[in-house]
Parts: sequence; structure tokens; C-alpha cells
Amino acid sequence: MCGIVGYIGDKDATPIILEGLKKLEYRGYDSAGIAVLKDGKIDIRRDSGKISHLEALVEANPLKGSPGIGHTRWATHGEPNERNSHPHVGYKGQVVIVHNGIVENYLELRDELISEGIQFNSDTDTETIVHMIEIYLEQEMDLEEAVRSTLKRIKGAHGIVVLSTKEPEKIISARIGNAGGVVIGLGEGENYIASDIPAILEHTNRMVFLDSHQMAVLQKDKLVLKTLDGKPLDHKVETINLDPVSAVKGNYRHFMQKEIHEQVRSLTETLAGRIDFNHHSIVIPTLNIDKIDFEKLKGIKIIACGTAGHAGQVGKFMIENIAKIPVEVDIASEFRYRDPLVDENQIVLAISQSGETADTLAAMEEGRKKGAHIWSIVNAIGSQAMRLAEGFISMQAGPEIGVASTKAFTAPLVDLYLLAVLLADKKGLLSDGEIWEHIVEISKIPDLVGTCLDREDQVRAIAGKYKDTEHMLYLGRGINMPIAYEGALKLKEISYIHAEAYPAGEMKHGPIALIDKAMPVLAVMPKDKWYEKMLSQVEQAKARGGKVIIVATDGDEQAANLADDVLWIPSAGWMVNPILAVIPLQILAYHIAAMRGLDVDQPRNLAKSVTVE
Ligand code: M6R
Repeated sequence: MCGIVGYIGDKDATPIILEGLKKLEYRGYDSAGIAVLKDGKIDIRRDSGKISHLEALVEANPLKGSPGIGHTRWATHGEPNERNSHPHVGYKGQVVIVHNGIVENYLELRDELISEGIQFNSDTDTETIVHMIEIYLEQEMDLEEAVRSTLKRIKGAHGIVVLSTKEPEKIISARIGNAGGVVIGLGEGENYIASDIPAILEHTNRMVFLDSHQMAVLQKDKLVLKTLDGKPLDHKVETINLDPVSAVKGNYRHFMQKEIHEQVRSLTETLAGRIDFNHHSIVIPTLNIDKIDFEKLKGIKIIACGTAGHAGQVGKFMIENIAKIPVEVDIASEFRYRDPLVDENQIVLAISQSGETADTLAAMEEGRKKGAHIWSIVNAIGSQAMRLAEGFISMQAGPEIGVASTKAFTAPLVDLYLLAVLLADKKGLLSDGEIWEHIVEISKIPDLVGTCLDREDQVRAIAGKYKDTEHMLYLGRGINMPIAYEGALKLKEISYIHAEAYPAGEMKHGPIALIDKAMPVLAVMPKDKWYEKMLSQVEQAKARGGKVIIVATDGDEQAANLADDVLWIPSAGWMVNPILAVIPLQILAYHIAAMRGLDVDQPRNLAKSVTVE
């Protein structure tokens, strides 16, 4: 889950790396560090805390040179202090490394190295890697061979970047498994390396993605790709058409707020090119849908984590209702170890913003092993979830930096709606007129979302009333039940308020005992087929003294009379309602956290891409 940046060229690596690290801070912010080679020596600055702290260190005590590597850390082994910060240097002071992943056999390797007289300077697993590389260098291997030999000895999934004073004209990087991506940026007389595209996009949009078990040997004017056995590989240069500006906060106070407000644009992009208005059809060529035999198709298993899983739960309603295909939604970390019943007549559909979530990738792999078709809906271009799938839908939401996912929740909802219509069309279930009705509904989504966003001030005022609450209970039913879960997740992850979500019909089976004056109840109840049921359950909560906030459809007087506060959304079809209902919940969580003075974009203990188990 850490972020890595590297630079080799004639410029000073330090500012390039610092800027790159800032764009990767969403991957972890426990500590940060940078190392450059200068006059045959390794120079390092590193400490606990965020990149801003590292910047201050560098300003107080400058370091200059090239090549250079940098790291922002989400701590696994060893507490987040200076000695555990990356980069780590080998016992001879000749090799320096940044690492993303977990050395699963590090205790055994550490004991072995200690018995050979090597002294450890940190509690990290990473330090074993750098010492071993140096041991192999001592055995007359060159840097490439030493890295390769070391990687053969370590277990787990890894992305590493290595520099050595012995071969200062090179950066070596390697990837094993799914511990986060490694992308190489090709410049003119200079080259870059990073965990993710935005870190280097302002310098180049010509990128090469490292697959598992590949190694890159990077010089300022040359890239050589090899297998981990040393066999040369061809590399494909991809041109990335992303806007570097979208990874910048602009006038917003936080990335999360900016990303919430980007949803009109992101959803417009999500739809771009996917609706054929002339032929009344949905077009998603990257899905390779023609590989599916619909006569034999038994069902779809959606696998995802966190917010992406909530999107999947909404998608189940859309696909089952429109395409009449049974859908199960599974938490990826459960699916991967459950020996799930999956076969070649099913589709395993992964949903992931980062495309690098370890559990989701492992669940995809489990599905692949069992012969299922593997699809993904994914935001990060070039990520593993995109590359491993037989067919994919690109969310087209643009980089999402805030740890709390917002625009990468609504984009897959729209994708799933499109997918449901496409599947139904392939099965011949819908008339031309019915497809057109869905197209009209879907096309209205960006504008309706815009209407919800225009109401930010009303939501902010309500946030002010509830900012000091210690608990909040979210209720929903049917297609809006996952929205209750998503609203509660948003609140808890950034405001640290205890928030729970329940399917409203379950209240009387236990949770209603929780309700008293100190437990506000937030009910997601737009006008739809579950409305009447929600109404009676909210009445029951109200009767027990709880304050009630309702997400209601414009003009709903019953809701207005019942609620202490109302979060209004415009009237829409029942499948569009969840996409609208989540907007005020995102804004509410954002303002409550901001009013509590919390670090909205980088909440404690979290990281954006969860690339470890
Ligand atoms: O990158 P992914 O979509 O695979 O990430 C899945 C979850 O880690 C993510 O949605 C997480 O729950 C967010 N912090 C929620 O805001």
C-alpha cells in the first residue's frame, strides 16, 4: 500500500520525487523518505509523518543528485518512526531500496542474516531485501543478478526499486504478484518510475506497465525489460490520456470535496461513447461480451471490498431486474478463501477503484482458476484488475485521491446500469422502446447529480447540527440498503463517529434497542416501491425518541413532517435513486469531518489502495 517514485536523468531528482510522492500520499502517510546518489554516495532524508514533513526536512538540510528514489509508507512491520522509514540502506552502504509489499518469510531471513553478523537498523521486513542484495553483490554478481537472486529467496508480493553506488547509471525495479503497480514513464534523456500514473504524469504520458515477475533496468536513455530469470522482454509503450490537473486540489479545501463535486463531469465521462443513440444500444467493446455464451450463463459473482462492494450490491438489483441473471455479491476477502462454487458458466465481476486491492485480485485469480469468465469495472488505468480481466469497463472517473471513495462509487453504479441493459439486450429481453427508456433514464443522471450537488449549503447546515453526535444509525431497504451502508462507511472512516447501517426491516429483530435520544437515525427513503415500508419503520424509530434525518424525494410532505431534517434529492427512476441518494450522504460525512477539524483526505490508519491482506 506504499507509494514509490524514482527518477534518472540530468535533473536534480529531489523536487521531482517530492512532487511525485505528494500525488501518491493516498497510498500511505505514516512516514516518507528520499534517497539520491551524489558523488558516488547515497544521501538520504526520511522521517515519520507526511510528505510535508519530509519537504521541511529537505528544505532545512537539502539533498541533490540523480538518480533518486522516494517512498511514502503505510506501516506493516515496525511502527511508523524514522528508523523504519524507507529508503533502507544495506550493511555495506552500497545499495538503497524502497519497497511495497510484505516479505512473508522475513523472520527466517532476518535470523539467517543476523547469524551471518549483519546488524539490523530497523524493525522492517524490507531491510532483509537490501542486505541480501549486498551479500550477492559481494559474491561478484552485478546489480541485476543480485536483485534477481534476492527475489528468488523472498516470499510474498512485492514492488521494489533499487539504486546502487556500484552501478549509479541504473535504477532497477521489479514486481512480484499484486503488491501494487509499477509503472515506468519514458522521457527524453530521462526516465521515471512510480507506483501509479499521477505521480509522473506531469513529466510524460508514455508509460510501460510492469507485470508480475518482470524486472526493469532503467537508464536515463534506455529501458530494458526482463523476466525474473533474466530473459529480455519486449515492452509495450502506452500513451495515457489523463489530465494531470485532475490530480490537483484546486480551490477546494480537500480532495474529497473536489471529487464529490467532480461527479457531474465524471459521470458524463463514464457515459461518453457508451450509448449509441442512433441504434438504441449500449456499447462497451472492452468487455469482450461476445465470449459469453448466454444460453449457458448461470450467474454473475460480483466481488469487491468496501465502497466498491456497496456498488456491487446496487448492481445486483439492476442486473437481476433488467437482465434476469442471478447475481451474488461477495466480499473479496471472504470469497478468496471460501472455495466458492464457481465454474466456466459464470462471470466473476470485480469492482475496484484502484484495481490493485490484494483481496480483489486474489478473488479474481480464484475465479480464473475455476474457469469463470473474469470481468472488471475499474478506475485506475493499467492496473492489475484491468489487465487480468478478460473484459473490463473503465470507470473513467479520473484519479481519486481522497481516501474516502466518492466519484469512484457513483461511476460503477452507472457502469452497472449500462451493463444490465447491455446484458438484457444480448439476451433479447428488451424491446427497442424499453432500451430507449433506460437510455433516457441513464442520460439524465449527470444533471440530476448536479442538482444534488447544488444543495451543498443545505446539507452543510444539517452537518452542523449533527457534528458532535457519537453515533448514527443508517437505514435503507431494497436498492437503497447499500446506500445506507455506504453513507455509514463514509461517516465512520473520515469522522470517526460510530455509524452503523441496517436493512430497515431488520430493526425490530434487535437494533431498535439501540435507539434513544443520543442515536440519530438517517433513513434513505426516496419515493420508490420500498417507500411505504420505510415510512413505517422510521415512525417506529421516531416513537423511541431518536432524531430522524431522511433522504427524501423533492415534494415528499410525509417525509418532511416526520423528519427532524431532510436531505432532498430530485425525483428519478428507482434505479437512479441510489446514485442521487448517496450524494447528500457524501456531503454530510465530508462536512461533519471537516467541522470536527479532521484530516479528511488522509484519515487515521487507512490508505487508499489496500495492496496487502
Ligand atoms: O480500490 P478499491 O475500490 O478496490 O478499494 C476498495 C476499498 O478499500 C475502498 O472502497 C475503501 O472501502 C474506501 N476507503 C471507502 O471509502
